[in-house]
Amino acid sequence: MTDRVAVLAGYGADAPDRVVTNLELESTLDTTDAWITSRTGIRERRWADPGTSTGDMAVRAGRMAMRRAGVTRVDRVVLATSTPDHSCPATAPWVAHQLGLGTVPAYDVAAVCSGFLYALAGAREAVLAGTSDTVLVIGADRFTSIVDPGDRGTAVIFGDGAGAVVIRAGASGEVGTLGDVVLGSDGSQSDHIMVRAGGARQPLTSSTPQRDRHFAMRGPEVFTAAVSRMTDAAATALDRSGWATGDCDWLVAHQANWRILAAVGRAIGIHEDRVVCDLDRFGNTSAASIPMALAHHAAGFRTGDRLVLAAFGGGTTWGATTLTWPGRTSRSATTGRTEVLSELTR
Ligand code: UT7
Repeated sequence: MTDRVAVLAGYGADAPDRVVTNLELESTLDTTDAWITSRTGIRERRWADPGTSTGDMAVRAGRMAMRRAGVTRVDRVVLATSTPDHSCPATAPWVAHQLGLGTVPAYDVAAVCSGFLYALAGAREAVLAGTSDTVLVIGADRFTSIVDPGDRGTAVIFGDGAGAVVIRAGASGEVGTLGDVVLGSDGSQSDHIMVRAGGARQPLTSSTPQRDRHFAMRGPEVFTAAVSRMTDAAATALDRSGWATGDCDWLVAHQANWRILAAVGRAIGIHEDRVVCDLDRFGNTSAASIPMALAHHAAGFRTGDRLVLAAFGGGTTWGATTLTWPGRTSRSATTGRTEVLSELTR
């Protein structure tokens, strides 16, 4: 009997139409295109219009991933977000309803920028345990709903968007297989990335100060932790998959800052040309950034390419996993071998 594995079957992404360039931000903030580009690598980001929610973007990305996977039903929907449409209830059931998925289990996962990998870990475990055969995993965030547009430390970095993947049960050895998902957290740093008010500890009142209503980040501390946690998690994920440093074709890491991505790539032996980057066009989209980067770079991957995914975010939380890039395959009746029929991207 072949071992059951979790396989990537489809992907999708959605971003608002509105492009906000660094130059546009120069007119409202004490910042420059030169500072933003050199310190982060970001050139532009997308901002949702007032009528567009996290759930709206999640639905569009999810529909695209399901279409690409060739499925109309899934057994479970997991939405990674820290900007849900409402603080209660979760947004995933509404997303599942919009996708016509009936009464499937649907829930949100909140691990900020690591949320997609946390959601993916649960989806993979459900597939391996046999409790689900097909899972829709979405990362979506509308960070402009929590960022202070007047805070140059964060307003230049974050953008809005959604990315999604479909995970299905497969047989050992298939291309598209997801490796162990390595996860970690350090709650002693919970105040490094935080919206202080609006939760149970500090409910909103008319006297809540403006600064407590918005997202705040201790940038330099987060930078250092992001590099070391993502490096360690990626190295562990590679090790668990039996891949040596240098065996890996691509790093697809949370799109926080080009300097962070390049440093993690260097530390695990992946050349800058092989570090996937779309933050120049989309900025940091939090939980959406890894599935968006996968979708945006899909045409650059070849079937069987070895990818390592890594993220770091608020909590603080982090995670990493490995993935071979899938293609359309069939198992030969005569040889029993799995053959690639076409690249998933075509
Ligand atoms: O997504 C979750 C994970 N997030 C991350 O991984 C983000 C990690 N952190 C970072 O990417 C970087 O720390 C930032 C991009 C947020 C900031 O870059 P930095 O190089 O760490 O800058 P800094 O905060 O140390 O600030 C350096 C200087 C300061 O001025 P002084 O005190 O040296 O005069 C800041 O006030 O740059 C100033 N500054 C800016 N200047 C122009 C900060 N933001 C800006 C800005 N434009 N937008």
